[in-house]
Amino acid sequence: MPMETANMFNPASKVSKISHCSSMEQYKQMHDKSLKDPEAFWGEITKEFHFEEKVKGKFLDYNFDITKGKIFVRWLEGAKTNICYNCLDRHVLAGKGDQVAFYWEGNDPADAEVVTYGELLKDVCRVANVLKAKGVAKGDRVAIYMPMVKHLVVAMLAVARIGAVHSIVFGGYSADSLADRMMDAQASVLITADAVWRGPKLIALKEIADDALKLCSAKDLKVKMNLVVQHMNKVTAPQPASNGTAANGNVAKKTHFDDKGNFKVNWDPSVDVWWHEALSTVSSECDPVWMDTEDPLFMLYTSGSTGKPKGVQHTIGGYMLYTATTFKYSFDYHQGDVYFCTADIGWITGHSYVTYGPLLNGATSVLFEGVPTYPHTGRFWEIIEKYKVSKFYTAPTAIRALMKFGDEPVKKYDLSSLAVLGSVGEPINPEAWLWYYRVVGDSNVSIVDTFWQTETGGHVITPLPGATPCKPGSACFPFFGVDVALLDEEGREIKGEGEGYLVFCRPWPGMMRTVYGNHERFETTYFKKFPGFYCTGDGARRDSDGYIWVTGRIDDMLNVSGHLLSTAQVESSLVEHPSVAEAAAVARPHSIKGECLYCFVTLTEGNSFEDKLIAELKNKVRSKIGAFASPDFIQLAPGLPKTRSGKIMRRVLRKIAVGDKDFGDISTLADPSIVEKLFELRPKESKK
Ligand code: WT7
Repeated sequence: MPMETANMFNPASKVSKISHCSSMEQYKQMHDKSLKDPEAFWGEITKEFHFEEKVKGKFLDYNFDITKGKIFVRWLEGAKTNICYNCLDRHVLAGKGDQVAFYWEGNDPADAEVVTYGELLKDVCRVANVLKAKGVAKGDRVAIYMPMVKHLVVAMLAVARIGAVHSIVFGGYSADSLADRMMDAQASVLITADAVWRGPKLIALKEIADDALKLCSAKDLKVKMNLVVQHMNKVTAPQPASNGTAANGNVAKKTHFDDKGNFKVNWDPSVDVWWHEALSTVSSECDPVWMDTEDPLFMLYTSGSTGKPKGVQHTIGGYMLYTATTFKYSFDYHQGDVYFCTADIGWITGHSYVTYGPLLNGATSVLFEGVPTYPHTGRFWEIIEKYKVSKFYTAPTAIRALMKFGDEPVKKYDLSSLAVLGSVGEPINPEAWLWYYRVVGDSNVSIVDTFWQTETGGHVITPLPGATPCKPGSACFPFFGVDVALLDEEGREIKGEGEGYLVFCRPWPGMMRTVYGNHERFETTYFKKFPGFYCTGDGARRDSDGYIWVTGRIDDMLNVSGHLLSTAQVESSLVEHPSVAEAAAVARPHSIKGECLYCFVTLTEGNSFEDKLIAELKNKVRSKIGAFASPDFIQLAPGLPKTRSGKIMRRVLRKIAVGDKDFGDISTLADPSIVEKLFELRPKESKK
């Protein structure tokens, strides 16, 4: 092992001692095998799962070169399986029905529930039967818009059990966003909940879903059923804030609850069905539908640089092998571990590492409904102590937000159970890495900085916690089956040290297969720029020791709190406001979110730039996309810096956003004087 220095940290010995992969030699040997003989490598892994029928065709077949024809990827041709069966039945049949699948921890510490594999299976079968009774069949799309409750896991697995396709929309998205996604997917059923408390705030999911359904029916999408979980009567409402200010929740209590304290919902008996009522009338058994490995499992929408979200589609077999294997190796999962991933299931991290990866491994996890700072800033650490969590997975934005409160809220709890700490969503800055390692991990853990994307399905570049000496800020080395390259602008491969476009040379089992309903968009987005390679859209550097450092997006995307947004998507929301003629959005660094939105707006004739308009514009983005996308800054732009061909020079806007006058060459602008004007007009708050 290399000498441990301030820039190099060896795996914790308590992890390497027992790990599935415990040295760099072993990693290299396994990685080599996975590339040289994918069939032998992944074939061995398929043995751990149930396949109703074995591979009959090619184990792997693909084309990554757009100049040679259609892009396609197929793993395990001819085999049949069911991922829900592999997540649940397989374990129950092996006698693990009483093992805890999830410790559900509510928004309020008073609310908690334990769910076993056996119970999960029964509920999944019930929901599957409810869906079947409504005519949902193989290939149909079911939209899910839910809080972090066990019913969400049940819903997705029930959909998978009957061969339908789930499309989960994060519960922080607006009615417009939900409707857009439901329309694109042509979803015939929606599953939601009445509402949820997120910290002190009420999110009235059913109300938002009702609005979305209205938008859908206006566009002729016939939704057969809205299956609604009654959640509010089971949870503890937030207490009034101790500092005397009315917590958001108090206002919601007046508007959304009746005199007896019951949560109010509008009810349309032609579509709305209570979950608990529907489940009480059906059997708790339901045969799984045996699916082709390349049948779709789910789609999950992600931002695209055109502004229109794209339905990233994953298929069953490869995704199953990949999420199971990455979960096992990246977190070095062993029976007896308690694993806690703080991501919402509405994002890919939750799909792969709250639901599928852990359940495929028969793991015990914490499912947390709340937020890191409610009712106090030690909430994560309290949960880790309570359940003796050994493997913990969160995002840099959460780490940075919690770092602000100092070490004391962490040190109040016994976190000695921790062994592996994971990070995902954006490059983790070394300061946050070190705090995570020293304060949360007491310098006796392995940190895994996992790089991946909605598109990759699972970790593609990551340390292995028992093997890889880590450098804070580097995601280190490719996972098994992943063949990384860095390319220059001309598509030439950069060998050894250097920086360029991060691409992958061949398919790994968990990668997306298409963009739902638009295969051409899949091909142009990921395969057109460099024929023969999957292009991530990120830049990366390889150092002299071969470590990969992901440097961030190189397209018009920004990463707010670990979630991608496209500038085009934000701009199109802004220009919907009648006072806005043109808009440009750029990323500005933010100490907690990583990046935040800084928007420039050109107004239509006769409008003035006032606080009221700024508030309206922020609201516009919230209602078109969701609250998490709300811009931090909006500034007036009498004009935008455009080249003579009309292309907005975003690098100049990014400089203005941070108050940096080092604009570089602006001589190609149609009107260079606009840059100075924009600099003058920066809002006061942005100068801090
Ligand atoms: C983009 C994908 C994968 C789950 C969460 C986000 C950035 C993600 C890392 C990391 C550096 C990272 C990349 C990537 N990213 N993890 N460990 N180090 N960058 O999923 O919304 O599909 O975003 O997030 O820019 O392309 P996503």
